[in-house]
Amino acid sequence: EATGQQPSATTDAVKDSAFLKACRREPVPHTPVWFMRQAGRSLPEYHKVREGIPMLESCTRPELVAEITMQPVRRHKVDAAIYFSDIVVPLKAIGIDLDIKPGVGPVIANPIRSRADLDRLRDLTPDDVSYVTEAIGLLTAELGGTPLIGFAGAPFTLASYLVEGGPSRNHEITKALMYGEPELWADLLDRLAEITSAFLKVQIEAGASAVQLFDSWVGALSPADYRRSVMPASAKVFDSVAHYGVPRIHFGVGTGELLGLMGEAGADVVGVDWRVPLDEAARRVGPGKALQGNIDPAILFSTPEAVEEKAREVLDAASGLEGHVFNLGHGVLPTTDPEALTRLVDYVHTQTAR
Ligand code: CP3
Repeated sequence: EATGQQPSATTDAVKDSAFLKACRREPVPHTPVWFMRQAGRSLPEYHKVREGIPMLESCTRPELVAEITMQPVRRHKVDAAIYFSDIVVPLKAIGIDLDIKPGVGPVIANPIRSRADLDRLRDLTPDDVSYVTEAIGLLTAELGGTPLIGFAGAPFTLASYLVEGGPSRNHEITKALMYGEPELWADLLDRLAEITSAFLKVQIEAGASAVQLFDSWVGALSPADYRRSVMPASAKVFDSVAHYGVPRIHFGVGTGELLGLMGEAGADVVGVDWRVPLDEAARRVGPGKALQGNIDPAILFSTPEAVEEKAREVLDAASGLEGHVFNLGHGVLPTTDPEALTRLVDYVHTQTAR
């Protein structure tokens, strides 16, 4: 329950924003909209400021992070900003040798596969990520009444990169560890839960007024395996930030069969991809939680009329929900026309204005 004291950086204007109201399932002036991966490669102004700066280095420069985080807010008039970073930033910060390869994703030099490897996953302290605190300080000043979403990768999704050594289609090495060495697996996820919790705390204490836990690839698991092998670690992360009272969003791709459990893990808002309509998702999640989603990011490559038709479908499916945050069902694709995103924000705002 979002009843705790928010850190002082959260102003009344932020608390009264449409986004936070929707997360708290309160009446809203309009349905709030933001887009996963709204900052980044779809924007020419992003390419301009990132020129010649590697991705992970850009995440450590507070002015640059603040500028990139602001770009989609200025351009699209979205209802929330998401802190510009990456899910592997806290792992890099504790000394894991990794890089983000353009067009590939995170690549780990020495994958984590044995008990001895766990020692490399040391605790994260605020000093390891002082640039995050600094960037969020700049951002809360510049954002005014627009809320800032902090985020982290969930233990399973982080483990999948660490164990495989990079992106993976079938997660076979990860699953081999999960099924074959359940105690080592549980300890690995518990370590990652500690690191993730510490990283979210830094962001909330610096001024983030909501957090999203990305378990992007957990849809690869069955509900029984999720409950046994993943849920305890994700629940630990949510519990660790519960006392701040900031809304906790939980998202994964292809998680239609897991939506109930992902809510149960401790989310206030459950993110839904485009495969399950929001009214059906609400039945699966049950009462007491808001939903976020869920237009297919590929639809943005279609005509403006087709985008509006799909957006209308999403709004209709969401009409009976207690709280709805409009979003895509996954991140903005890099070659998306940014004008299509701006138009979509405007459409949702005008259609839902009350
Ligand atoms: O605007 C925002 O949403 C904030 C920025 C953000 C990034 N990564 C920046 C980024 C966020 C929220 C993420 C999270 C992230 N990173 C996830 C979870 C979200 C999801 O999409 O499921 C995952 C799985 C990652 C891992 C990762 N990092 C991938 C798969 C990639 C893309 C690789 C590629 O080049 O196609 C990255 C790199 C990355 N993270 C980029 C950005 C802007 C591209 C790097 C660049 O611009 O050079």
